[in-house]
Amino acid sequence: MCGIIGCIGRGSQTLDTLVHGLSKLEYRGYDSAGVALGGTELSVSKTAGEVADLREKLNGQNLRGGAGIAHTRWSTHGPPTDENAHPHTDCADSVTVVHNGIIENYQSLRDQLVSDGHTFTSDTDTEVVPHLIETYLSAGENPADAFRAAINDIQGSYAIAALIDGANGLFAARNDSPLVVGLGDGADFNTEGGVFYLASDVPAFRDFTDEVVYLEDGEFVRFDRGIQVTDRSGTVVDKDVHTIDWDAEETGKSGYDHFMLKEIYEQPRALRQCLRGRIEEQTATVDIGDLGGLNPTGVQLVACGTSYHAAKYGAQLFRDAGVSAQALLAHEYATAPPPIGNDLVVGISQSGETADTLSALREARRRGARTLTVTNTVGSTMDRECDHTLYIRSGPEIGVAATKTFAGQLTALNLLSLATSEGSNKRRTVVPALRDLAGHVQRILDSSAASTVAEQYDDAESYFFIGRGYQHPVALEGALKLKEISYEHAEGFAAGELKHGSLALVDENTPVFAIVVGDGEKAQKTVGNIKEVEARDAPVVAVTDGQSDAERYADHVLTIPESRPRTAAVLANVQLQLVAYHVADRLGRSIDKPRNLAKSVTVE
Ligand code: F6R
Repeated sequence: MCGIIGCIGRGSQTLDTLVHGLSKLEYRGYDSAGVALGGTELSVSKTAGEVADLREKLNGQNLRGGAGIAHTRWSTHGPPTDENAHPHTDCADSVTVVHNGIIENYQSLRDQLVSDGHTFTSDTDTEVVPHLIETYLSAGENPADAFRAAINDIQGSYAIAALIDGANGLFAARNDSPLVVGLGDGADFNTEGGVFYLASDVPAFRDFTDEVVYLEDGEFVRFDRGIQVTDRSGTVVDKDVHTIDWDAEETGKSGYDHFMLKEIYEQPRALRQCLRGRIEEQTATVDIGDLGGLNPTGVQLVACGTSYHAAKYGAQLFRDAGVSAQALLAHEYATAPPPIGNDLVVGISQSGETADTLSALREARRRGARTLTVTNTVGSTMDRECDHTLYIRSGPEIGVAATKTFAGQLTALNLLSLATSEGSNKRRTVVPALRDLAGHVQRILDSSAASTVAEQYDDAESYFFIGRGYQHPVALEGALKLKEISYEHAEGFAAGELKHGSLALVDENTPVFAIVVGDGEKAQKTVGNIKEVEARDAPVVAVTDGQSDAERYADHVLTIPESRPRTAAVLANVQLQLVAYHVADRLGRSIDKPRNLAKSVTVE
């Protein structure tokens, strides 16, 4: 997956606007970057590396033009090299293209083009597109028709933007990859003049406008006489203009060293936003609108990565409410039993664009199920394609590692199960616990000993995380967070599972983080597991509310306020986020942009 941006109408500021936009899209990929400007003549600059490397390269160059496209890459075909960086051009350097997605039939197209005499300079699937456009131009098509014909030749997923020499404007199309248009000063449909933006995601141009138009799969847009949106056949499509209600400032670091830390600290506000207007304490009611009437007989929760941990947590909520529920890895959904009767398939995804999850949801629809997405991204593909949406309202998350959105997912899943499947007795106890969450998280943020723990164990060989019941997904998430940003080995376990094999790995160099909540049977059993690892000399860090005697056996304690087990999961997770952050920071890792990863994974 990659990030693309286009801009027209900003005159001499075009280049700066594009590079600024790219820096906002780096979460989508950052192994190479490039830009092309057009007007009288096309000029391209690109490089392996980050947007900062592109900026440096541009310093010595003189790119001009009133229209431009740019790209930040996460490799899918070919390694990150200067040649494979986008934009890609045709033989005559008259067409240049940026692309996010995967062109599935690129090999056969490329073979045909090569046998027709075209020369390719990269390993990418994208490069077939400028050559196809060139072919249609040579056959006498005008630029708009040549672009449409080329796009209709390709199969797969794409958000594509192209500049074509001699055409006064730019052209774009989408299928299965996100693409959104921004309307700047004086912009309108079918009216000459005005400033227009185009990007994989709104933060790319949010500094300049809050008016957006979301494109659907199969739609084309051309920016020459204002914008015109058409379908595959060229018929004009009427589009609604939406107004974004979050600030550009919300995507800045606000004095924190990293976006990840800022986003960890934003959790109290994010949780309040998630709950605002949705819980009423006096009457112990939960109001998520029509979704409350869904009344599922069974629930399948599909997701990947961190969101899958939220799915495991959500499945427990529904099962505890007596509703049959399963958490399923989205990319394994084909092997799951089909949904039946009044089952609800819930896709959990902060981005709303994860290809694996999207394809599981589409499969669920094909199987006749109702679908709902729990997402942070208004206007995302899942939001638009699912029958229902529950927004988590976390605000933009830029750090690649999901933090506040995981807290938002857990909280929103509580709302969903309370509103659809749990009785008033449950609501009477859980609603106050939800209300207290934001304050409790703030207390943890104000007093956490996570940095001391990180200092103690930043040279460990491996890190283990254990938890039972609602704390099991948190143990999995604690391990994932640590490994993705620190590059150290970590594993999460259901606390009872460790003794069935992995205990063999535990020694004095394996700190074990044990989440112990309350003083019930589960807590006592986990304390028993603490004793097992302690007997093998493992250092123990207890993440606990102090109700059990876990602290007695622990080398360090990360305290959380008392809460119900299901809400304590959100609290314990904050401590583990901070541990991961501080370990990675001490090791000098690239926290906001961990190697090999990207924020939004739009390939299967
Ligand atoms: C880890 C992380 C990933 C995502 C996964 C799914 O910090 O962010 O594991 O959770 O790629 O992404 P979404 O939630 O956008 O579907």
